[in-house]
Amino acid sequence: MKIAIASDHGGFELKQELIDHYAKEGVVLQNLGTDSTDSCDYPDIAKKMAETILLKQADLGILICGTGIGISIAANRCRGIRAALLYDDFVAEMAKKHNNANVIVFGGRTMTTQDVIRRIDIFNQTAFEGGRHLRRIEKIEEEK
Ligand code: RB5
Repeated sequence: MKIAIASDHGGFELKQELIDHYAKEGVVLQNLGTDSTDSCDYPDIAKKMAETILLKQADLGILICGTGIGISIAANRCRGIRAALLYDDFVAEMAKKHNNANVIVFGGRTMTTQDVIRRIDIFNQTAFEGGRHLRRIEKIEEEK
């Protein structure tokens, strides 16, 4: 599975810690930036991630901003993106089981690295249930 990761300046440090952590496990995360703590705009980062996922250049996206809120809002404006803010372990499980999120989101200023790594692992170890949940996520994509 190919995983892409991106953040604004508020999530830069957490992003680098996740890249380092998974590299030690032999997993290379595709880094879409930003590349420093210099201020940047999270909608630009969210759009770059959405393009990467929708073009199938990665199977899963990890997005990070300060709280995870702004970048979630921006990513979810892109048709086909299901971005879920994993604010606890139960939600990490349900975001895969019921929502089949294709982007998972974290807050660099609100979450510890340890908590985030555990939630990524929970999400990846969970299967999408399909059935009625597939019907519901398909309805999200219907033209209004
Ligand atoms: C940037 O200062 C901050 O507003 C951003 O990272 C994010 O928390 C927005 O929701």
